[in-house]
Amino acid sequence: MISSAKPNPRIHRAVLLLNINQLLTLRSAADGPRRGASLSELGIMQDAAVLCLGGKIVSVGSTKDALRDPWLKKNRKKIIEIDCAGRVVLPGFVDSHTHPVFTQPRLVDFEKRISGANYEEIAEAGGGIRSSIDGVRNASKTALTRKVFAALADLARHGTTTVEAKSGYGLNPESELKSLEAIRAASREWPGTVVPTFLGAHAVPPEYRGRSQEYVELVCNEMMPAVAKRKLAQFVDVFCDRGAFSAGETTQIFAAAEEHGLAVRAHIGQLSETRLGPLLRYQPASLDHMDHVNDADLPALAQSDTVATFVPGANYFLGLARYPNARRFIESGVAVALATDYNPGSSPTLSMPMAMSLACTQMKMSPAEAIAAATINGAWALRLADRKGSVETGKDADLTVFDVSDYREIPYWFGANRCALTIMNGVPSGHLSS
Ligand code: NIG
Ligand code: FE
Repeated sequence: MISSAKPNPRIHRAVLLLNINQLLTLRSAADGPRRGASLSELGIMQDAAVLCLGGKIVSVGSTKDALRDPWLKKNRKKIIEIDCAGRVVLPGFVDSHTHPVFTQPRLVDFEKRISGANYEEIAEAGGGIRSSIDGVRNASKTALTRKVFAALADLARHGTTTVEAKSGYGLNPESELKSLEAIRAASREWPGTVVPTFLGAHAVPPEYRGRSQEYVELVCNEMMPAVAKRKLAQFVDVFCDRGAFSAGETTQIFAAAEEHGLAVRAHIGQLSETRLGPLLRYQPASLDHMDHVNDADLPALAQSDTVATFVPGANYFLGLARYPNARRFIESGVAVALATDYNPGSSPTLSMPMAMSLACTQMKMSPAEAIAAATINGAWALRLADRKGSVETGKDADLTVFDVSDYREIPYWFGANRCALTIMNGVPSGHLSS
């Protein structure tokens, strides 16, 4: 039995997981993100055991061998032993797209949409992204840190151990920096791994209405240098779409990011089609949403290491009948990932299993494909695949234990949380009932 008290992330006791019915290792001999048929290869081991030491995975094998190991026999009392009793263990989910820095849910938008308004109509009437700005601008860094930390803790309860977290509701220099500082402060308190992203180009704020080019200059010439200097973000993101930023503005922002040594990613094709060629020149780690993509762009995407990240929680919550055509991407050889897109406007969910369930039922991805897209390919989308996304010796000890005996149950039991325990950088959190 593991205590649910908040562990000290600096203490790294050895952790041994035993009696795993299915261990999904996601290991692969090939380098690069999973594509095509390899997306279904989960590297399943039965009756497995995993030993973690110093925050890393040091051994993966059978329970029988682990119990016979002389070092383990000698040190058993010092080890945190977790009897998985026939459950499923897999790499912690890598949620490569979230917007956790906001203060309030958007309940009026929710009701308006139920009454028939769409995302763009709501934004034009003063709702949408712009309606979250005041809350963030008026909040203290401490209050925002608390919100982000609460989201991280909830993500971990659903099996996520690595999270990309974007700014993007401050939309002026002071509040964008404050948002990224809140992400940094919250991530220091959390045993998992957080990848911060600067999303100053999420929307044109009201004071720049009709002057989007001037706002882009503020993003590139004032906000980005400050973010880079203080190492507050690893990525720069842009909402490239109708009503947000144009493809030209996006490449301008990408070029500025390149100058500052920051990698790039973008929201693309959520509302309208943007051709991908000019963006792919900047080697984005990931292009996300991808509801409206020109078929002619798929070969170039498949040739690149850019991951197409689907966020079906947004389609679900916006009540859309149409989801991205995942099969077309997979059959073209594009590397695909899944993420929650946790945010107050289009996807208020922290559950990767929910995103996976939607991928299966609405996008016809198989449960195995959904799991690879939520783990190893999420890690590629964050350029962390050398450390995250699979259960292999030498990788970070990021694991999740699900209260199921077959991995297909993870997307099957939708709307229920079957995650029993997570291990983040070697630190267990949660507990198994007997
Ligand atoms: O990924 N598309 C832009 N950004 C978010 C929505 C943010 C919001 O509505 O607050 C998204 O869906
Ligand atoms: Fe988003």
